[in-house]
Amino acid sequence: MSGSSFGKLFRITSWGESHGLAVGVVIDGCPAGLPLEAEDIQRYLDRRRPGQSKYTTRRNESDTAEILSGVFEGKTTGTPICIAVYNKDQRSRDYGEIAYTFRPGHADYPFKEKYGFRDYRGGGRSSGRETIARVAAGAVASLLLKELGIKVMAYAKAIGPVTIPEEEYRLDEINENSFYMPGNAYAEKAGEYVSSLMSQTDSCGGIIECRADGLPVGLGETAFDKLDALLAQAVMSIGAVKGVEIGDGFAAAASTGSRNNDPFYMKDGKVCKKTNHSGGTLGGMSDGSQLILRAAVKPTSSIAKKQHTVNESGEDVEISIHGRHDPVIVPRAVVVVESMTAVTLADLLLQNMGARMDHLRKIYLP
Ligand SMILES: Cc1cc2nc3c(=O)[nH]c(=O)nc-3n(C[C@H](O)[C@H](O)[C@H](O)COP(=O)(O)O)c2cc1C
Repeated sequence: MSGSSFGKLFRITSWGESHGLAVGVVIDGCPAGLPLEAEDIQRYLDRRRPGQSKYTTRRNESDTAEILSGVFEGKTTGTPICIAVYNKDQRSRDYGEIAYTFRPGHADYPFKEKYGFRDYRGGGRSSGRETIARVAAGAVASLLLKELGIKVMAYAKAIGPVTIPEEEYRLDEINENSFYMPGNAYAEKAGEYVSSLMSQTDSCGGIIECRADGLPVGLGETAFDKLDALLAQAVMSIGAVKGVEIGDGFAAAASTGSRNNDPFYMKDGKVCKKTNHSGGTLGGMSDGSQLILRAAVKPTSSIAKKQHTVNESGEDVEISIHGRHDPVIVPRAVVVVESMTAVTLADLLLQNMGARMDHLRKIYLP
């Protein structure tokens, strides 16, 4: 099974299954000399951990990060960094009744057809637990970005139909509510909506927004490795993400050229933009303005409400998925989107060093 690695120079490989011994990541290509402790990774993992509010699954996973390699005396060594999180609360018996039934909205059916088997204990590689690897890598990438003055931040813009308009954002409230929304009043409304769905044994989705500040001009390439194309792959590869837009995204289709273009102007000898409909990218490269992307997250597939499906014997059956599932995935996926954005940017920063001869001369002929 291929496709578990992402990035060229800052290259991450995600490994492990939900019901195996552990899940984790190998980061190859992180420069030596970056201060890194297990607590730096733990802070990120704690943001995606279940069981932190009544709207996330009651699983009691401690998800403790252990650095197995690549760090010496608190700094990266330039060799592969392996981070493992041992699976402690994966109770296989919870999944018994669904072992031979294809759960609607999950990878069960295509996975079984493709590989001829399926890990009947749970999602295996298709489980949300795979995103632990992404978050651990994102923690390291974010430290690298921070050293270069770049900050990435994600939050929930919408939970179901409850959407916060940009002019009402209160960024200081993101960590004060269960949904990571930039507005406690909206989070309260979202809570009412999610509670009503929970009483109907149903689930909902939402929108995660991510912004990056401090990017230099020119990250990303002009053809297949465009900044926006790589971000789309990075974020669309997260389970349950069904759409990614950069800047005005789909709304740009209904705009006009005169409204959608971002006029340039000079300020203190620097080229600036009056607006940022493009979301910080032009022609596949960062343009020096704020990067803005959004991810549409579908409603949680595992619901206790009765659904029609088929089992592995080819019989039509009803399924009702009990056990421990979030009524909305968005709050736990916020840090996953932030992490995949950080990983993509870290990789492109390293790649960009070889873009010009004068950059190379600066490194090799100081
Ligand atoms: C952090 C995270 C946690 C998730 N937890 C659940 C969950 O508890 N229940 C569920 O049905 N899906 C969960 N998912 C989503 C499924 O993994 C995903 O919908 C499924 O594998 C099908 O893939 P697709 O939606 O990309 O087609 C989670 C996703 C993420 C990113």
